[in-house]
Amino acid sequence: MVKVAFVGAGGIAKTHFNALKELEHVKLTAVCDVVKSNAEKAAGAYGMRAYDNLDEMLGRERIDALFVCVPPFAHNDIEEKAAARGIHLLVEKPLGLDMGRVSEKADAIGRAGIVAAAGYCLRYHDVAAQARSYLEGKEIGMVRAHHLCGFVETPWWRELERSGGQLVEMATHTVDMVRYLAGDVKSVYGLMNYGLLEDRPGATIPSTVCAGLEFVSGAVGHVDTACIQPDWRSGIEVLGKDFRLALSGKTLTFTERGRTTTIEGQTGNVFLEQDRAFIEAVLHGDPGRLKSDYLDALHTLEISLAAYESARIGQRVMLKGKLPA
Ligand SMILES: NC(=O)c1ccc[n+]([C@@H]2O[C@H](COP(=O)([O-])OP(=O)(O)OC[C@H]3O[C@@H](n4cnc5c(N)ncnc54)[C@H](O)[C@@H]3O)[C@@H](O)[C@H]2O)c1
Repeated sequence: MVKVAFVGAGGIAKTHFNALKELEHVKLTAVCDVVKSNAEKAAGAYGMRAYDNLDEMLGRERIDALFVCVPPFAHNDIEEKAAARGIHLLVEKPLGLDMGRVSEKADAIGRAGIVAAAGYCLRYHDVAAQARSYLEGKEIGMVRAHHLCGFVETPWWRELERSGGQLVEMATHTVDMVRYLAGDVKSVYGLMNYGLLEDRPGATIPSTVCAGLEFVSGAVGHVDTACIQPDWRSGIEVLGKDFRLALSGKTLTFTERGRTTTIEGQTGNVFLEQDRAFIEAVLHGDPGRLKSDYLDALHTLEISLAAYESARIGQRVMLKGKLPA
């Protein structure tokens, strides 16, 4: 059995509780939240012990794996504390808000030799694998991606300092899928619009963002986000000579001269597939079962943070790239 604990007992934690209770080799053990009543509610519903202090939970419980489900601003030294005890990690996206701190965490994870997954669940859709296999060996010229929706009412979401804004907190899934399909990015140019949120008291995030991307391959592209829309749309197009791939939700379309093929994805619950892969990676000591790991996710964060830096200085920002494994 893998004894699993949680830090953070909000919305995404509940999604994981429900996924994990479907898995045979999991014992939901303990949950910690700074708001004790949140921990107690989850503990009562899923048969765990509740804590409001991480050190106390780590000291008292025998835990194999920790799900880090706190908001982006609240990672503090959670990952380092778990790594020091050899506890495997699944860290929700985004990994944090500061590349220096996240790199330190990656170092601690590397030294500990633990399995460390990141919560880029969309990689576990069957259509993501089919999209990658279609693109294999093809030269990509351009990527066009968007994540457009309404405003999120979660209290911390509107504050740039606490969420990182829509590009970092939400469209990070889109940025990550762009990387997954089209490869790594070497430079970013960001444009931000801070208008149109006057009716949202305390909002310090941009309402619309355009992040221009230059890929290592030479391809160019952009990710656009907006949180002022009446509905929700998200999608990625990958363009090459005489072909186009479009991925939106579970629908994948390939367009070639005179031929269009559409595939509807069959994966029911990406969180279940992601959590299953993590638990199996822990059970077998095999991080190769993960489609998204901490070190890789760090590069996704780097792209989004670089877009803000670029907008601030009014220049393109060159990325450092992946840290060595
Ligand atoms: N993978 C996905 O599709 C997905 C979906 C939703 C959210 N998320 C991510 O999950 C994270 C949490 O989002 P959420 O929607 O669950 O937020 P939430 O606000 O619903 O819940 C966060 C919980 O963490 C607790 N918390 C805050 N600081 C803490 C700390 N230092 N120690 C312990 N508990 C603490 C809060 O009290 C709250 O109960 C965010 O990074 C978000 O981007 C991922």
